[in-house]
Amino acid sequence: MTPVRIARLLGSALALSGLAACAQLQPPQASPAARTPPPQAAQAPKAPQAAQAPQASSAPQASSSPQAQSTSPAQMTPPAPAPAFEPSVGQAGKDVVWVPTPQVLVDKMLDMAKVTPNDYVIDLGSGDGRTVMTAVRRGARALGIEYNPDMVALAQRNAARDGLTGRAEFMKADLFQADLSRATVITMFLLPDINVRLRPTLLKLKPGTRIVSNTFTMGDWTPDETATLDAAAGCSSSWCTALLWIVPARVEGTHQVSQGELRLTQTYQALSGTLRRDGRVIPVSGKVLGEDVLLDAGGQALRGRVQGGRLELR
Ligand SMILES: C[S@@+](CC[C@H](N)C(=O)[O-])C[C@H]1O[C@@H](n2cnc3c(N)ncnc32)[C@H](O)[C@@H]1O
Repeated sequence: MTPVRIARLLGSALALSGLAACAQLQPPQASPAARTPPPQAAQAPKAPQAAQAPQASSAPQASSSPQAQSTSPAQMTPPAPAPAFEPSVGQAGKDVVWVPTPQVLVDKMLDMAKVTPNDYVIDLGSGDGRTVMTAVRRGARALGIEYNPDMVALAQRNAARDGLTGRAEFMKADLFQADLSRATVITMFLLPDINVRLRPTLLKLKPGTRIVSNTFTMGDWTPDETATLDAAAGCSSSWCTALLWIVPARVEGTHQVSQGELRLTQTYQALSGTLRRDGRVIPVSGKVLGEDVLLDAGGQALRGRVQGGRLELR
């Protein structure tokens, strides 16, 4: 299945779930055929109901009723516990359905983000917990934010099974409402429109925070790095591209640097402007990666760093 086909499927399943914001998330070109609900998506809303089924409250009623007292021991056997929740690919989610990232791409995304034990990783829409658990195996602390409580419970079970409870945390929350300020790395596999809605929040994170997305872009904020895995690298699904953004420090404005007067304009991480030196005006272009500034001033490479709002160049 192609990424476009799957994106349509994600959008159409969402539209059929009747949830808010579907107009924004549904790809405009979705064909009627693409609107056919995947069987899993149609079944998915039943899962939370199953979890809330009044089994616990009906059992005491049965044992205290006259009928229960006259029931034979065989008939008094407590009902079998509800089967454990089993996720199905394509099941409805609040804003996007669940499709797991191939493990090899999870690994690639965390490689690109250069995750270390110093990091605090937040996965937005954490599904079965695989990205959080992989980050924790690299020594990081990690939090999964997931709206579906059954998926939260599943991820917690998975983390407990692998002995990762404690460093791998999962919370039931809406990713648009969650506090992301602790993150040094954000991972996500959502949809382009959701990424764009999240963009203002992401741009306010600490400069240097790394954001990695499975396959989907962030509007006109171009990634700092993109990598696609092929079948030889172990990725043969439609979800084999990782995109990395590094939250840029704000450096737009005029800076007095040892090289002269530097005037910069900034669009996301891209910089352009001029350097006035010895009566000459030299065009400047470059980028800011976190707090690191890389410039070309008329063929001369300048590197620098923003600290406390002050730019130092060498
Ligand atoms: C495409 S799956 C990705 C799962 C996981 N991050 C991965 O890469 O394997 C998207 C997940 O986001 C969850 N989700 C959808 N809307 C959400 C929202 N508003 N807040 C939190 N989670 C949401 C879905 O339930 C689903 O598990």
